[in-house]
Order: sequence, then C-alpha cells, then structure tokens
Amino acid sequence: ADRILGITCADLIGKTIEEAFPPLAGTEIPRRYIEAAAHGTPWFFEQVDYDDGTVAGAFEVHSFQTRPGSMAVSFMDITDRKQNELALAQYRDRLEALVDERTAELRDTQQKLLAAERLAVLGQFAGNVSHEIRNPLGVISTSAYYLKRRLQDQDEKIHKHIAQISRQVDNCTRIIKSMLDLTRMETPRKKAVPLSECLDAALCSAGAPPRHIKAALDLPAEPVILHADPEQMRIAFKNLIKNAFQAMESDASGTLTITARAAVDDSGAPCAQITVSDTGHGVPEQMRDKVFQPLFTSRATGIGFGLSITQMIIERHDGAITLENSAGPGASFLIRLPLAREGDSHDE
Ligand SMILES: Nc1ncnc2c1ncn2[C@@H]1O[C@H](COP(=O)(O)OP(=O)(O)OP(=O)(O)O)[C@@H](O)[C@H]1O
Ligand SMILES: [Mg+2]
Repeated sequence: ADRILGITCADLIGKTIEEAFPPLAGTEIPRRYIEAAAHGTPWFFEQVDYDDGTVAGAFEVHSFQTRPGSMAVSFMDITDRKQNELALAQYRDRLEALVDERTAELRDTQQKLLAAERLAVLGQFAGNVSHEIRNPLGVISTSAYYLKRRLQDQDEKIHKHIAQISRQVDNCTRIIKSMLDLTRMETPRKKAVPLSECLDAALCSAGAPPRHIKAALDLPAEPVILHADPEQMRIAFKNLIKNAFQAMESDASGTLTITARAAVDDSGAPCAQITVSDTGHGVPEQMRDKVFQPLFTSRATGIGFGLSITQMIIERHDGAITLENSAGPGASFLIRLPLAREGDSHDE
C-alpha cells in the first residue's frame, strides 16, 4: 500500500479516512468504507486518473469486512489494463470514423457513377432518337411554311393552327438540341482559354436576356485563363445563364451576376472560382439535392438536362459545381475550374 499509494502507513494510524486522505472528503468513499466495516457490505470500485485523455494511473479497490467494526482494503494496480482498454476504445472509435468516412465516399462515388451511367445511356438513346426525329420535323416545318403562304387569305383560325404547328416544331427542335448536347459530349479538348471568352460565347448563345434583366460581369483585371475545352465551357455556362434568365422571367426586374477570382482548390492547386447568381425565385429546399439529376425539372417546358450537362462538363474538367446556400433571394452556383499552367497550349 505504501508503494502504490505513495504514503507511509504508519503515519495514518489514529486518523479518520478524511484526515488521512483529504481529497476523499465529500466523496462517497469514506461512507462506503464505514458501511463495509460496520455492516459487512463489501464494496468494489475502480479509480482511474485520466491525464489529458490518457490513463495516468488506475486501481481496482476492494473493501470488505474482516470482523465487525473492522475492514480491509486491497488496491490492485490496473494501469496497464486500463491503458490498453482506452487505447483499444480509441482505436475502435478511429476505425468506426474511418468506416463511416469510407462508406460516405463510396455512396458518393456510387451516386456519381449511377448519374453518369444514366446520363450516358440517355445520351446514346437521345442521340439515336434525335437523328430519327430531325428529318420528319424538318418536313413538318417546311409543310407548315408552305401552308402558311398558300392559305394567306383564309380565316384566322387556320393561321392560329399553323402558328401552333411551327411553335411546337421549334419546341421539339429545342429538345433535340439539348439531347444532342449530351451525345456530343466528348472527352474535353483542353487548352488555355480566357474565362471571359467562354462567358461571352455563353451569354451570346443563351440569347438576349429579357429587357427587365440586367447582366453584370465582375471579373478580375488580370485575365483568368482556364485549362478547358472552350466549346464545352460555352455549353456549361450557357445552361446556367439560361436557368437564371428563366428563374427571373416573371419578376419585374432581375440581375444575373457572374463573378470570378483566382483561388485554390481543396488540394491546394490554383483554380478559378466562379459564381453565377441571380435574383429569381431560387431553389426550394426540397429540390436542392435533385437539381443536378438528369431529367429533373420544375419547369413546364423544361427537360431537366441543363444542370446535369453542366455538372458533367465541369467534372470532366476536374472541377466542381455546387448550389450555394445563398442568403439573399435567387440561386447561386459556385464553380471551381483548374487554371491553365505555363506551357498549356493556346491552340486546339
Ligand atoms: N437559377 C435557378 N433558379 C431557380 N431554380 C433553378 C435554377 N437553375 C436550376 N433550377 C432548378 O433546377 C431544375 C433543373 O435545371 P436544369 O437546367 O437541369 O433543367 P431545366 O432548366 O428544367 O430544363 P432544361 O435545362 O433541360 O431546359 C430546374 O427545373 C429548376 O427547378
Ligand atoms: Mg435548364
């Protein structure tokens, strides 16, 4: 006991427990010892000192009655056992955390694979169908045009129907165009290309914004040069811009803002950080995790390809796109894309 407790037993004779061991005053220990001595109620406990999460010392303490009014206490040093138990528990926690992390990664990869596969199958199917439908659509369109000219003096109803045919043909052509965007998605042919060029081309192909919508570009003075396939970048940004215009369509006024700055990605590599934000109706909470899924749309005339194509393009460029939790109104997409490095070609 002297060695384990670091005391001299002889000094304790005639003292109460609290006098001998002041830190025990106020704990249940003196009462338990007295119960063991007076009533013969044996008591067992483990005392473990934790020092910064590691076991500094541990005892297994047994107290039992030797004769009425007397008791004995045995102390067993179990520091090693406790240290091993603690190390094991910490190891188990680490393992569990690792398994959770890996499971989440696996689920994420699996979801991405599924989405990519779905997109690839859709793309292939869409490519074939588009091809088959384009010719008949062309014929319908020409016939509608012919009828319109020949029936010029007919009543208004006929003109209304002919206009309807032309509108719906345009609609189908638009759907086919986005399907073809999917099938044309080849391996990116990357080169050094200024972001401003990609954005100009995207803004052009998104069509003129409705008059009540302003577009604001906030690019750094120093040109941001991407390592990217310009044609694919045009499509990726066009889809985002079109979505923004559509989300602000029925508002009295609206602003599309595109900002860019040089940043570093998670691995510390330099990248361009681009945001495409609008002041439209925004994305409702319950839709947030669906917007990148192919064929997900909330618009009556939408197909639901836009964002999945954009995401596919950006990921094929080793970039990333996320829908931000914007504090203000509207939606905001954050895109990270690798910057061109010295030596990247400027030509195809
Ligand atoms: N800027 C935005 N503001 C609000 N909602 C958006 C915005 N961008 C996308 N969304 C939501 O995400 C959905 C999917 O977008 P996505 O571009 O993939 O398809 P779509 O615009 O509906 O159809 P498509 O682009 O094929 O014509 C939209 O229907 C809309 O609900
Ligand atoms: Mg869209």
